[in-house]
Amino acid sequence: MHYHKILVIGGGLAGLRAAIESSPKVDTAIISQVHPVRSHSGAAQGGVNAPLANNPKGKDDTWEKHAYDTTKGSDFLADQDAVEFMTSEAGPCIYEIEHWGCPFSRTEEGKIAQRPFGGAGFPRTCFAADKTGQYMLHTLWEWSVKLNIPLYEDRIMVDLVIEGDQCRGVICLNMKTGEIEPFLAEAVIFASGGSGQIYARSTNALISTGSAQAAAFKRGVPLKDMEFIQFHPTSLYGTNILMTEGARGEGGYLINSNGERFMSKYAPNVMELGPRDIVSRSIQTEINEGRGIEGQYVYLDLRHLGREKILERLPGIRDLAMNFVGVDPIENPVPIQPGQHYTMGGIDTTIDGATRFKGLYAAGECGCVSVHGANRLGGNSLLDTVVFGKRSGAAAAEHVLAKGEEKQGEAAVMRCLRETKERIETLLSRKGEENHADIRDEMRVSMFAKVGIFRQKDAMQEGIEKIRELKERYSRIAVQNKGMRYNLDLTRALELEGMLDVAEAIATGALKREESRGAHSRLDFKERDDDKFLKHTIATYTAKGAQISYSPVTIIKYKPEARRY
Ligand code: FUM
Repeated sequence: MHYHKILVIGGGLAGLRAAIESSPKVDTAIISQVHPVRSHSGAAQGGVNAPLANNPKGKDDTWEKHAYDTTKGSDFLADQDAVEFMTSEAGPCIYEIEHWGCPFSRTEEGKIAQRPFGGAGFPRTCFAADKTGQYMLHTLWEWSVKLNIPLYEDRIMVDLVIEGDQCRGVICLNMKTGEIEPFLAEAVIFASGGSGQIYARSTNALISTGSAQAAAFKRGVPLKDMEFIQFHPTSLYGTNILMTEGARGEGGYLINSNGERFMSKYAPNVMELGPRDIVSRSIQTEINEGRGIEGQYVYLDLRHLGREKILERLPGIRDLAMNFVGVDPIENPVPIQPGQHYTMGGIDTTIDGATRFKGLYAAGECGCVSVHGANRLGGNSLLDTVVFGKRSGAAAAEHVLAKGEEKQGEAAVMRCLRETKERIETLLSRKGEENHADIRDEMRVSMFAKVGIFRQKDAMQEGIEKIRELKERYSRIAVQNKGMRYNLDLTRALELEGMLDVAEAIATGALKREESRGAHSRLDFKERDDDKFLKHTIATYTAKGAQISYSPVTIIKYKPEARRY
């Protein structure tokens, strides 16, 4: 059995930052499905928010203004204590990673450059061209190597071990050897990203399957605000690869089939730099009302920015557009449509990343602390990873140092190992007639259509019925590849079970929230209803489906007001 005092599940930005914080104090190891520099954090393009006031148009920026923009962007559902913590720590966290070697783009005077992003009162998004996540990831990875943090890669986490009120460890499938491995720990930090693959048309990597959310949920940890799914306005038509908001931050236009900059109708003061929920709905409305191109997409037009600026600031999206749709943005507009991008909700945590079980923490997209509320501002997710990765690493280390006993949960881990082995043997030996890839595809298409950008009761009910039908069919799937090494047939089947549970939590929370708030936009309840729904949705796992309750929102300075842009 492997033993470490702290196990961090996920080698992306939140996981690396957590491990960097805890490992000098307490023995810490990282478990990751892919090599850390291939984690989904690397797909983040446009930047990370911090009120550094380096841009001449942002010289009056402060962390309080960042907190206000974040809270307003969240449609007042974010917890303001968490928001204040994140925005007040933003500057120190960005300078820290800069000093660790992150090569941010620079102003003429050599300061970290900042560009405008949606829903922000000032240009406060620090960037490294349009590959910010990639550069931050490499910096933290190098730092983790310097600290000699052990890494278990090619591991799929298949279960979480809980005994009474304590977290005891995890069970992993070693993809390379095919072994099912028990890991005992004094604390576990989940940091394995979101669940975008539950949806069709997602900007997310194939590894974003919500495995941590699913494992925690099944073992009794509530999921919070899962109905709030972010649709990024500009994903590439066809593949839904991200076309960064930085493209609009640098001055890009959105154009419909009549050649109009249609955002003047929807957000006249900020145009293309409205918050993502509003811009996505505006694009989808243009398409639905017949002003899309081929009924499917609109254009992101960058031509007026000029060759030099595109090559300096947006080289990555130029490459992607040329390689995937054969369009050079210097010469032609890029076809884009909204795509699923981010899970605002997640594992219910305190500001320390702590969950209802002692020793279990969550940070980054898999968690919900909650700083994004009903709609996240672009640039706040990279910030969330480093601020709350750091804080959860510190909190987990403190918990372990204060804990008297050690290695208490061996029997519980071995019990869970036996259950996992049985589950896998059953899957491999079953002669079912259902194909899990078909079930996954149907789930993804149904979630996008029924619990998507615009929602209403009947469609969401159909979505929930579909998930239940798929769950029943899942009990009759067969896994064709009977081997254990790098068996993607098996791992896809294993992760699908949890994806269906998480999908049900999303759809059930959405159906019960009878209002429109942030990214949750209902055609049958068009207004925000603070009297009834200024509260967090809490989904608890039961064998019959997600059970929904509510918890209060922490409001400090910013009283809910109408959101005008
Ligand atoms: O558009 C983007 O570059 C994405 C940024 C984010 O999701 O924060």
